[in-house]
Amino acid sequence: MPLRPITDCRILLTGASSGIGAALAEELAAGGGDLIVTARRHEPLERLAARHPGRVEAIPGDVTDPAHRAALLEAAGRRWGALDLLVNNAGIGAMGAFVDADPSRLRKVFETNFFAPAELARGAFPLLSAGRRPAVMNVSSVLAHRAVPWKSEYCASKFALHGLSDALRAEWKRSGIDVVLVSPSTTDSEFFDAAIEDTMGRRWKGRRAMPTTRVARESIRAWQRGRHEAFVSRSGRLLVWLDRLWPSLADRMVARYG
Ligand SMILES: NC(=O)c1ccc[n+]([C@@H]2O[C@H](COP(=O)([O-])OP(=O)(O)OC[C@H]3O[C@@H](n4cnc5c(N)ncnc54)[C@H](OP(=O)(O)O)[C@@H]3O)[C@@H](O)[C@H]2O)c1
Repeated sequence: MPLRPITDCRILLTGASSGIGAALAEELAAGGGDLIVTARRHEPLERLAARHPGRVEAIPGDVTDPAHRAALLEAAGRRWGALDLLVNNAGIGAMGAFVDADPSRLRKVFETNFFAPAELARGAFPLLSAGRRPAVMNVSSVLAHRAVPWKSEYCASKFALHGLSDALRAEWKRSGIDVVLVSPSTTDSEFFDAAIEDTMGRRWKGRRAMPTTRVARESIRAWQRGRHEAFVSRSGRLLVWLDRLWPSLADRMVARYG
């Protein structure tokens, strides 16, 4: 199968105001893609659109708001009448003991990391069905394969997105819509500063955090090649394999290091 071309690919991308989403938007626009991008912060989106006039349309808003999701899909329908790639990248984190957290933390994390991408994918189905080699790229995490303590809501939301991705890949195969699950390890972005709560006060981002450009390029390569999964880092892949082959050792390791 030839590589999926980026040129003239019609793309809807969430969480484009910083981090991995901003890097994905830059790479895809530079490669000749046509994009609608969203996030809550207006200014970074407008700067992004200004750097790629005619190629990037910014529609700021909150992906947890059903009216905003409908507006995004309506804009894609008006602009293209079809969609080749939906990138569900917007995501948030929360750190701290599950037992002490207010139940609203679990709801908030799931609204952004699971319900929003799930409903965008459902809503985008008719447009994707009319697309060229259409795909959904769900930006998940290595923690969607092996959960760790102190990020329980986040891990659970990414496991849910993993499960939905596998189910939809099989369910939508006959419609020709592919689903790619991208699972980065710790990445150098605003993610930890933007966490909705951190009751631990720990330093989460080590020196080995991956650059966002690397995550973006590897994710795009996986989608272009028609892969179903991209782990991005070798340490992430190792952790997942260790968990499959020797789960009790993986349990001991994550209980110790978190
Ligand atoms: N950084 C890591 O270590 C890491 C590792 C594995 C996976 N990931 C995943 O990678 C994805 C991108 O995260 P990142 O690392 O690039 O962090 P980031 O720099 O904080 O980017 C998150 C993006 O999501 C947007 N966003 C958050 N809530 C939103 C909402 N309700 N509506 C619309 N947009 C929203 C943010 O924009 P606004 O604030 O402007 O709305 C921002 O553009 C996430 O799904 C995350 O779970 C990150």
